[in-house]
Amino acid sequence: MMTEEVGVGPWPGEWPLGEQYDPELLAHGDRRNVVDRYRYWSREAVIADLDNRRHSFHVAIENWQHDFNIGAVVRNANAFLAAEVHIIGLRRWNRRGAMVTDRYQHIRHHPTVDDFLAWAYPEDLPVIGIDNLPGARRIETVTLPRRCVLLLGQEGPGLSEAARRACAELLSIAQYGSTRSINAGVASGIAMHSWIRAHAGPPPD
Ligand SMILES: C[S@@+](CC[C@H](N)C(=O)[O-])C[C@H]1O[C@@H](n2cnc3c(N)ncnc32)[C@H](O)[C@@H]1O
Repeated sequence: MMTEEVGVGPWPGEWPLGEQYDPELLAHGDRRNVVDRYRYWSREAVIADLDNRRHSFHVAIENWQHDFNIGAVVRNANAFLAAEVHIIGLRRWNRRGAMVTDRYQHIRHHPTVDDFLAWAYPEDLPVIGIDNLPGARRIETVTLPRRCVLLLGQEGPGLSEAARRACAELLSIAQYGSTRSINAGVASGIAMHSWIRAHAGPPPD
């Protein structure tokens, strides 16, 4: 079976001028999974450009059992341009689902929920729990605050007791089938997109 190469080959003709361009990529091609406007840009230049227009929401997830959803959370955070991803609990996480987006994303680790709160409170960021727990309001009926942290739980237990206590409020995503829950990676994308619908303009391209 033929496998199609992604990306672009070496830059044809005279090289473009600009500090953002990476000579290695211009010479050998750019096979990364980046949007067209970042073709041939160095990683540092891409991060600097993203940093100029990051959104004001953060996303956090608990990681007490090496949750396999964290890669998807990081990838969604990159797509929706979260300010930062926060991982609470174990430092190690399975990077596979991130599809290399972690190279462009600010990721901060907090060993405990208290450590996470010690960061969030001085930043004056309300912690919004995303979970289908009793007492949660439907995310479809609320406008997320412009500045906030969206906090997800992990497969199995969902948000821990300590995390629940930390939340200014809890929001659930409406479900209609037989399963109790969706996975945290999917839930993170829905929650982030809810913020996008409320506050973001059109994307640059
Ligand atoms: C697989 S769920 C587990 C816990 C869930 N409370 C339960 O009853 O089974 C893992 C995480 O995904 C997110 N999640 C899954 N389904 C959700 C929903 N319908 N609404 C909001 N968050 C959800 C939450 O962050 C949750 O902590």
